[in-house]
Amino acid sequence: MNILLLGSGGREHAFAWKIAQSPKTDKLFIASGNAGTRSTGENVTLNLSDFESIKDFVLKNDIQMVVVGPEAPLADGLGDFFANDEKLASIAFIGPRKKGALLESSKDFAKEFMQKHAIPTAAYQTFTPDTLQEGLQFLKTLQPPYVLKADGLAAGKGVVIPATLDEAKHELQAMLSGKFGTAGSKVVIEEFLKGIELSVFILTDGKDYLLLPEAKDYKRIGEGDTGPNTGGMGSVSPVPFADKNFMQKVEERIIKPTMSGLQKENIPYAGFIFFGLMNVDGDPYVIEYNVRMGDPETESVIPRVESDLVTLFEAVVQHEIANASIRIKPETAVSVMLVSGGYPDSYEKGKIMTGIEENDDVILFHAGTALNANNQVVTSGGRVIAVTALASTIEEALTKSYKKANEIKFDGVHFRKDIGREWRK
Ligand code: AMP
Ligand code: GLY
Repeated sequence: MNILLLGSGGREHAFAWKIAQSPKTDKLFIASGNAGTRSTGENVTLNLSDFESIKDFVLKNDIQMVVVGPEAPLADGLGDFFANDEKLASIAFIGPRKKGALLESSKDFAKEFMQKHAIPTAAYQTFTPDTLQEGLQFLKTLQPPYVLKADGLAAGKGVVIPATLDEAKHELQAMLSGKFGTAGSKVVIEEFLKGIELSVFILTDGKDYLLLPEAKDYKRIGEGDTGPNTGGMGSVSPVPFADKNFMQKVEERIIKPTMSGLQKENIPYAGFIFFGLMNVDGDPYVIEYNVRMGDPETESVIPRVESDLVTLFEAVVQHEIANASIRIKPETAVSVMLVSGGYPDSYEKGKIMTGIEENDDVILFHAGTALNANNQVVTSGGRVIAVTALASTIEEALTKSYKKANEIKFDGVHFRKDIGREWRK
């Protein structure tokens, strides 16, 4: 079949790499892709908020499956657009409708959903400009640090964690006065959870689910988890502390109640759910839901999936997940992200990259890369390229990955040297 994959980052290159290996894939198109996805299919330029142009492309190219990487088109209702269009309704669409996407696009919706379905999460209250005074009072009842979240999508920047009450009050005022635009017209204030984070993923048809490999993401720019937050500087899968006992708690307390909650609320769901979890002394709590896979987690998770991804996607749209199974490689995957100098603040693009030939030890997933006028691969984003390696131990995987990371050169290149360090012997 012909498949259209939407998105252009490292996550999408990992999906494209896997989809291209499927015997069921005839033609793979990636919109808009990057310099790396070119080796897996055909990059095409589409505006993901122009649904009519996506429709034209899908019909002209006889697309039978659409896989959505990022959250924005889902939150904007691309899934509903397909479901409600006579010509598109029969096309396999991997991603939830707008209502399901609310799990990510509205923090307030997600918190209310968790409260209603008794899913463990930090205690919270939601405030609007009209209830600013109550919000300021509520902050006084909490212990520092304070967690303030803009309700809507804010490109990963909508969560602020001030250390003092004064800063928290100031921040609440700023957010409710439009610091994050309309995304901040409601603000969730919640209790700070102390623990270790991990990302758990399922693929679901709305009723049953398959558990994908879990992963740990390294969000801060600096070694030892210091400095500002980024989109993610690396990932490791599996996560050593996510043992059988812990994952059983995750399934019983979080995944199953989420599935039954979706059903009780008549929210159809076809696609991935990403549970951003905090392990608090052995008990899992939900920090956030995402309605897509994580980036850079996908770059470690997908190489561990042995099963054919297109077959699994078919099971999603045919509501056959109950009868499907997923084979996972036991190896450890690590992924080190190389980023542009200056990221996550401003950075320059267009830097020529060298050393990006793959070898047998690594898989390179491009994120922010493009071709320049001379057909050279150049940087085109903050996160540039992920170096993934699989091995029977985390040590060996890290050695392979870092060896290659050190060979990739571009002006200003930076990467964290301590991915997976907590589990190195
Ligand atoms: P989110 O966008 O909701 O994932 O939040 C961004 C980051 O803020 C998370 O990855 C956590 O590191 C942190 N965070 C969010 N909520 C909490 C919380 N309740 N307690 C502690 N840290 C949090
Ligand atoms: N790595 C975190 C995310 O994709 O949101």
